[in-house]
Amino acid sequence: MTEHLSQKVFPTTQLEDADGDGHNPSINPTMGEIISKRFSRRNFLQGSLAVSAIAATVSPVALMTAEQARAAGGSAFSFPEVEAGVDASHHVAEGYDADVLLRWGDALFPDSPAFDAKSQTAEAQARQFGYNNDYVGYIPLEGSAEHGLLVVNHEYTNPHLMFPGLVKVVDGKIEQGKLSKEQVDIEMAAHGGTIVEIRKVDGKWQVVPEGKFNRRITATTEMALSGPVAGHDRVKTSADASGTKVIGTLNNCAGGVTPWGTYIMAEENFHGYFSGELPADHAEAANYKRYGVPEGGYDWADYYDRFDLSKEPNEPNRFGWIVEVDVMDPTSTPKKRTALGRTKHEGAESIVAENGKVVFYLGDDERFDYVYKFVTEGIYNPDDRAANMDLLDTGTLYVAKFNEDGTMQWLPVVHGEGPLTAENGFASQADVLIETRRAGDLLGATKMDRPEDVQPNGVNGKVYVMLTNNTKRKADQVDAANPRAENAFGHIIEIAEDGGDFTATSGKWEVLLKCGDPAVAEVGATFSTETTKNGWFGMPDNCAVDSAGRLWVSTDGNNNKATGRTDGLWAVDTDGEARATSKLFFRVPVGAELCGPLFTPDDETAFVAVQHPGDGGEDWDGHGRPSYYEDLSTRWPDFKDDMPVRPSVLAITKIGGGKIAV
Ligand code: FEO
Ligand code: CA
Ligand code: CA
Repeated sequence: MTEHLSQKVFPTTQLEDADGDGHNPSINPTMGEIISKRFSRRNFLQGSLAVSAIAATVSPVALMTAEQARAAGGSAFSFPEVEAGVDASHHVAEGYDADVLLRWGDALFPDSPAFDAKSQTAEAQARQFGYNNDYVGYIPLEGSAEHGLLVVNHEYTNPHLMFPGLVKVVDGKIEQGKLSKEQVDIEMAAHGGTIVEIRKVDGKWQVVPEGKFNRRITATTEMALSGPVAGHDRVKTSADASGTKVIGTLNNCAGGVTPWGTYIMAEENFHGYFSGELPADHAEAANYKRYGVPEGGYDWADYYDRFDLSKEPNEPNRFGWIVEVDVMDPTSTPKKRTALGRTKHEGAESIVAENGKVVFYLGDDERFDYVYKFVTEGIYNPDDRAANMDLLDTGTLYVAKFNEDGTMQWLPVVHGEGPLTAENGFASQADVLIETRRAGDLLGATKMDRPEDVQPNGVNGKVYVMLTNNTKRKADQVDAANPRAENAFGHIIEIAEDGGDFTATSGKWEVLLKCGDPAVAEVGATFSTETTKNGWFGMPDNCAVDSAGRLWVSTDGNNNKATGRTDGLWAVDTDGEARATSKLFFRVPVGAELCGPLFTPDDETAFVAVQHPGDGGEDWDGHGRPSYYEDLSTRWPDFKDDMPVRPSVLAITKIGGGKIAV
């Protein structure tokens, strides 16, 4: 999601949900304001100064002319670049179709009610595609690249865009009223995930509502806690004396599909759903402070006691986990795999190492938080799916320490090792996992600029870490892996594990790319000079690697006047002379961020998730004021007066067929 978590403060005035030492409730200027203020000399700097500044900040290779670079190998991506900009719709490269596959409210079952935003119900929503699609995964059926299960996370809700009559405008800002119980129930049903069968017919993807695996998972689906934390006293509540049964999953951001074909949903900003005060001197006070609990952005505690800390003080310890879903059994109980730690998990992308262990890479998306990986103890068995189903309960969690000399260590987050002892309040591995962040603090992990997707690349053996931004990093907090103070645009780190072994406990790293406008010297961006004015981006968030091993990056937060562009999907060269060259392939409508991206195994389709379209419009001349249900900055993708804006998943294919961008 975007930085602003609060549903009550508009327009996009951020309650910054971040800090190394816990929740910081200060209201800060928007990213747009920061960028505008800091880089107001933009036009001046685009002159000769910018040229010399680029020369000082990019590698000699990147300074080759486009012609020279092409002669030496050139960009690995072939498509005519999209022009960056801001408007009410999406745009894809010429020669491609971007077709809407699933919109908020679309039917997923034969009995799904037709979508009617004006009289939506929780029952209807639970049978329809949810809100704010984020992670997109594809699980082939019978090995097919044209028939499979699409799994999609629904991260959060935007009541001001979903519900009529909820907002009033005061002094040019919108104020949101209190949600009714029915609206909260709709929100809960709009969260979670979707599993739906899809099929490509005559080159176009279709939803199969009769699919026997189709399922909605919501904030009220029963889940099991498994692994070291299951049954621990700190996860017991009045409704669950066993400490093993949780109702629902929250804020499922990115995720993953395991090698054995299960669906991973990462619980990210779970703190936002909790309200109320802990009893005085409660044992969880420091733990919750480190995670920013409670944030109180939702009205759920008004109707459900479990979201009120004063009534259920242990409930937040049951969120912030990696959830695994067996998609082949629609009655299966999703499992919260506690061995992978409790953080604001962005996602969990995985790869099978040479020795057969499976390695999951994990980002904790908060300013000054950490990058993790989890290595299974067991070996993946490609011939026996059932044998893999509990691999995620046993293994070793590591946290990353990036050294100044370009080396790195993966430090074991294991009870009894180093400072993770009873003396420091960790009586067992369960305590270590419940307070994963504090364990990382004590181990001396490197405080990063908002780690989001972390993606292993099986083709070139590297791992890519998206670091969205961190405007709170001060000059004296800069380090080699987080090299810019007030990092407004983020960067991407490339890791090479020692010996090419994904299970290694040490490796090397370098910055692939410092993001932002390379024409503005102060920004210090390091895109290659082949990168056009459309090709640069800020705020890398999610990413994908296609089967050729090429990197695609989607962004969150470019949407403002200063950047002159919405978020989108950029193709980024990582190898050869074109390294650090970026090209714009797809961009989203005003107000949205781009999630997903995901390529089918044949590279002929790219699925992208357009999240929170229409959330904002003040910075766009085409609207110029706050956006809400009655006065939307866009009615994408239907563009009908009686239909609100709808987060949607799109399928991008080449006109006439074939692999994308070759
Ligand atoms: Fe949900 Fe970190 O983006
Ligand atoms: Ca994000
Ligand atoms: Ca994200």
